Amino acid sequence: MIDFKKEIADILSQKVEGLTVEEILEMMEIPPNSQMGDFAFPCFKLAKIFRKAPNMIAKEIAESIEGNDLFEKVENMAAYVNFFIDKATFAKSVIEEVLEKKDQFGSSNLGEGRKVIVEFSSPNIAKPFHIGHIRSTVIGNAIYKLYDFLGYDTVTINHLGDYGTQFGKLIVAYKNWGDEKEVEANPIPTLLKLYIKLHEEAEKHPELEDESRMWFKKLEDGDEEAKRLWQWFRDVSLKEFNRVYGMLNISFDSYAGESFYSDKMPRVLNMMEEKNLLKESKGADIVDLEEYNMPPALIRKSDGSTLYITRDITAAIYRKENYDFYKNIYVVASQQNLHFQQWMKVVELMGYDWAKDCIHVPFGLVSLEEGTMSTRKGRVVFLEDVLKKAIEQTRKIIKEKNGDLPNIDEVAKQVGIGAVVFQELSNNRIKDYTFSWDRTLNFDGETGPYVQYTHARACSVLRKAQAKLDENINYGLLGNEEAMNLVRVIQQFQTTVEEAARKYEPSIVTRYIVDVAQAFNRFYHHCPIIVEDQEMQKARLALVSSAKQTLQNGLNILGVAAPERM
Ligand code: ARG
Repeated sequence: MIDFKKEIADILSQKVEGLTVEEILEMMEIPPNSQMGDFAFPCFKLAKIFRKAPNMIAKEIAESIEGNDLFEKVENMAAYVNFFIDKATFAKSVIEEVLEKKDQFGSSNLGEGRKVIVEFSSPNIAKPFHIGHIRSTVIGNAIYKLYDFLGYDTVTINHLGDYGTQFGKLIVAYKNWGDEKEVEANPIPTLLKLYIKLHEEAEKHPELEDESRMWFKKLEDGDEEAKRLWQWFRDVSLKEFNRVYGMLNISFDSYAGESFYSDKMPRVLNMMEEKNLLKESKGADIVDLEEYNMPPALIRKSDGSTLYITRDITAAIYRKENYDFYKNIYVVASQQNLHFQQWMKVVELMGYDWAKDCIHVPFGLVSLEEGTMSTRKGRVVFLEDVLKKAIEQTRKIIKEKNGDLPNIDEVAKQVGIGAVVFQELSNNRIKDYTFSWDRTLNFDGETGPYVQYTHARACSVLRKAQAKLDENINYGLLGNEEAMNLVRVIQQFQTTVEEAARKYEPSIVTRYIVDVAQAFNRFYHHCPIIVEDQEMQKARLALVSSAKQTLQNGLNILGVAAPERM
């Protein structure tokens, strides 16, 4: 793709002595409207060098560039040189790039040779996979895909919450009231019921709490029975989670969760001791963070058992040693901000300068209309139910609108799930929101189904025309407002992807592909595509094909399917 801005800066650097290409790039502006051209170069600062009025300088520069094929015209308006890019050259440059790169359009090799870990989803074992988990899961997946698309060497990790005192509780509850067949048949609800029962019983019989702690200690010490039960709870839970990951088409390179670090913590505790970081407090070990305005980090309890934070510190060190990451990204709710600040500080105090490469990407809270979610109170919306309902709803709509679509089941899945994922990725991640069935199942407006439908519409045009695109396209035929606007939007794809990755903000891509869809639909309504004039048809089809490719690549980054018919 021609980098017009850079081309202009190169030309200008030959006209104005004393300014480097970089300085010129800094000075260049995008005019507020297209009547003033595509780029502008202000000449105020040149008055001193040339000892002339800025208007005069602008005029002379403009005149000396007139006649270059890159531009329709170059003219001065007051102290500005305004560049009007040649429309055909611009359209050719963008469209040829899309059609050549296809599913790689927008990608780059920016990240070559750099390893980026994206940790996301990370649910707690034996607890329901609820609507709150969709956030980390789909935001994390999109961030992984962004970095992958930019050529980074990515590793995805699901840091399962599969360790800690709650497993002691679960073991005690199961040993007292559990039934093997019931757990096998309906694992997570049954385990959840047991967990809740233990909490209720413990109010009357506090000794159950001690017993639970003892069983977790046994698990940490490698007791056979404790390990067998824990492994079983983990296996049945993971089977359930994998069903949802399957629906979302998400997988992980590693499921090394908290338990993975149990035998790696003693070494890290020793290192902390050697560095004199640990302080004794009521029999427990802490790292004092008062100096940094944070509460102390509790690293080891008085009974010797470890904590969530101990495992995060150990995991970060393990990842550095085993992956030598360039960035280690954690997509975890903003409720855990303090936890992340604390452990990253501890890692820094241990002398690891790579602590700065560990990045917490927080997101806001999801609540329900009836209040915050609470698994213990049974106030929870299961993610699987949301996805299933969305599929059902979509199937109904497709049946009404396009009853003889051959693969209704498949498309209903792609569109139903796509709608939920797209909505999730539409707002800035940091915003809190209230889950609403109505909003989730409403497909009007700037939604996933709208973008998917636009993509399918473009596919259908290309199918009908049985387009064979060859080299000889007259790009000059794409000069009208709607076509040029679509070209301009498509041209933004790569910078949009780069910005979204830099800000860890998939919603930038979501909003962008809505813009592409809208620009496409405006073009589609104003410019008939299948027309007598073969030249015109070919040029417009090339643009349709580019828009289709851009939508497809964008949806793919978001983890949303792009069906060809719907
Ligand atoms: N399992 C935790 C939870 O559900 C999230 C884990 C986040 N990742 C981490 N490295 N601490 O709250």
